[in-house]
Parts: sequence; structure tokens; C-alpha cells
Amino acid sequence: MLNINKKYGPINTVMDDSIVSQKQGVKTHQPNVRVVSQMQPIRVLVANAKGGCGKTTMATNIASYFATQGEGTAIVDYDPQGSSIDWLAARDPHLAKITGIAAFKNQNSNSTRSYSLRVPSNTSRVVFDTPAGLNGHILSDMIQTSDFIVIPVIPSAIDIRAATGFIREVLLSRAFRSNKKPIAVIANRVKKNTLIYQKLQRFLNSLNIPFIASFRDTQNYVRASEHGLGLADFSQRDPKDKLEWQPMLEWIELQIRSKQKK
Ligand SMILES: Nc1ncnc2c1ncn2[C@@H]1O[C@H](COP(=O)(O)OP(=O)(O)OP(=O)(O)O)[C@@H](O)[C@H]1O
Ligand SMILES: [Mg+2]
Repeated sequence: MLNINKKYGPINTVMDDSIVSQKQGVKTHQPNVRVVSQMQPIRVLVANAKGGCGKTTMATNIASYFATQGEGTAIVDYDPQGSSIDWLAARDPHLAKITGIAAFKNQNSNSTRSYSLRVPSNTSRVVFDTPAGLNGHILSDMIQTSDFIVIPVIPSAIDIRAATGFIREVLLSRAFRSNKKPIAVIANRVKKNTLIYQKLQRFLNSLNIPFIASFRDTQNYVRASEHGLGLADFSQRDPKDKLEWQPMLEWIELQIRSKQKK
């Protein structure tokens, strides 16, 4: 059973040649449309320099969660692979609407912020999907442009080593040092009770970074992603997945409330 968005319905506004609407996958150019955001949306950065750890899976699932909550949601894809944009193109237009921005098509020195000129004015949540290998000033720029950061990590020796380096780079970046942001790590494709999983837990404890959730290895994510779906689009989710997502969603809502109080 799929959730249909009652608040926004299947409206697919296309405002920019790098904005892709659900299912149509068609890019339409409307040069006269000038979009100015009326409010500052909440911006979630999903990042890890390591490839294949679940960035797109997390970004698309978080976006689908926001959209099914009735929030005006955009997913901004900085990865030239365009996986989030492909996911959105496969999404049924009757599902909760998500706007996709293919930011990788417009890479220039101001591009990390220029997305904000291109989201629809009712956008209240923005999720950034990022490429593997993200580092240096582009990473710093993205940190600056975000309200909080979610880092998916696969508990394998290679991935943990890469994540250690990435988290260090985030903590030492100019943007983070000048304006600290909440960071959370998610263990993805977990087989619990393994030594390597425990090693990941110890490492995060040592950095005082919350380890907010663990997601099991399941084909549910693979199948959902093929059809432009997130787990939140199913009103009857697998109870195991629902339980695993709960602490992650609570952490996200907590960050949103504390950001909105400021
Ligand atoms: N918890 C999970 N269980 C099973 N498969 C998963 C899970 N999370 C992600 N996958 C699958 O693993 C593959 C890599 O995931 P994903 O594309 O989200 O990673 P990524 O970090 O975005 O990769 P890239 O660095 O290439 O952008 C995908 O096929 C995805 O469906
Ligand atoms: Mg990806």
C-alpha cells in the first residue's frame, strides 16, 4: 500500500533545466520563472568519501520521509552519477512529491549554494546527496550550506578506516570549526554481533559522535530504490525496518526542532 501526498498532490513543477520531475524524467526550460525561497529550509547533508556505503539510499529515504510528512521536499544531487535523480525519475507522480535538482550539472565555485535559487518556494526540507571522494573546499562548502550531517558507514575494516579519515576531515574543516553542526553516523548493511561492528561502535564513542541507527542488509532497500520509493512510502513497512528507522527519524526531528528554536 503506497502513501499518496494529500497536501501537495501530484504537482510536478519544473522550473529549471536541471530540475527533474518525478517519472517524467523530462527537463523543461521556463526561463521566466524566478524562484525565491520564502523561508530557510532545513538542509540535511548525507556524505561519506567512501563509495557505495549507502549515501543515496539514506538521502532518498530521508527525502521520502519528509515528503510523506507533507513537507515541501527537494533532493539536490551533487553526484555526477545522478543516482538520486534517476531514483526520482522512476517515482510515481501520485506519490508524495519531491523536487530533484541535478546540481552536478552546474558545478562552479558558487554551485553549492546556488541550488537555493532553484528550489520551489514551498520547500521546507532539502536533502543533499553527495559523491564519493568528497573532500577539501567542496566538502567544507557543503558543510557550511547544511544544518546537520548524516554519515552512513558500512561496518567493514576498509569502510571504517575510510570513515575515520572522512569524519576527521569534517571535524577539521574550516566550515565545521567556525560553525559546529550536529553529526550522526548510521551503520548501514549491518550484521550485528560481529567484531567489526563493535569496533565501529568503540570508534564513534571515542569521538563522542552519536551512533544513531543501524540498518540491516535487506533487499527491501534495493527493490524500493528501483521504483523511486523510500520505506516511508509504504504504509505497511516491514516492522524490522520501521523499528530501525525510528531512532534516526527521532534524531532528525530533534535537530529540526532545535534549529527552528534558534
Ligand atoms: N541496508 C542495505 N541493504 C541492502 N542493500 C543496500 C543497503 N543500503 C544500500 N544498499 C545497496 O547498496 C548499493 C550502494 O548503495 P548506495 O547507492 O546508496 O551507496 P552510495 O554511497 O550512494 O554509492 P556511491 O558512492 O556510488 O554514490 C545500492 O545498490 C543499494 O541499493
Ligand atoms: Mg550515491
